[in-house]
Amino acid sequence: MTTSLENYVLAGSKAPEELFERIADDLYQRGYSVIPAALPPALTTRLTAYAQEAINFDPAGIGRAGQYHQNEFVRTDEICWIQGTAAVTTAWLNWMDCLKAYLNKRLFLGLFSYESHFAHYPPGSFYKRHMDAFQGESNRVLSTVYYLNSDWTQDDGGELVIYPPATPDEAVSVTPLAGTMVIFLSEEFPHEVLPARRDRFSIAGWFRVNSSTAQRVDPPR
Ligand code: OGA
Ligand code: MN
Repeated sequence: MTTSLENYVLAGSKAPEELFERIADDLYQRGYSVIPAALPPALTTRLTAYAQEAINFDPAGIGRAGQYHQNEFVRTDEICWIQGTAAVTTAWLNWMDCLKAYLNKRLFLGLFSYESHFAHYPPGSFYKRHMDAFQGESNRVLSTVYYLNSDWTQDDGGELVIYPPATPDEAVSVTPLAGTMVIFLSEEFPHEVLPARRDRFSIAGWFRVNSSTAQRVDPPR
């Protein structure tokens, strides 16, 4: 039953305090966090099935409303924005909402909203080194990536590589194995997705602060 999954995640929403604490500590100390087996396994399984079977992907673009274009030299993945219209995506958004509340309480980040999309990298696809936000130009504060690939091995490629600004030579490589969650400061960490040899599924998301004013309504995405 789909509703029981929602209830399960909602009921469990006070359980991952320890996990949230670890994420907050990591973010505070070094600006990024890599957490294996982050969400309840039942939810990861459901999200994986949903990404592979239930949704239609569109070619991904670069830039926000108004300056949007596609560029296959930079990224070749395809995406589908999450609206929370299914029980499984509602459960996902609930979990991220609990994390948002915790990080606001612990780190005073003032996170206001969360936007996320499924991503599919067909074999051979990549996303070249980029930033998710540039200082002062965006209200994206924290980037999140959640992986939905069971049995991913080193031979499958598709690693996320993040470059800590203080030690750019010590890149951090993350295997996109189901259940692994990566969170980092959007304006601080250049990162890239190496070519995948298998279909690669994930959810990329961003916590944002509110920068709408009476003069300028903040455009989505
Ligand atoms: C992104 C991104 C990383 C990944 O979508 O902006 O960097 O590992 N994704 O999928
Ligand atoms: Mn990115």
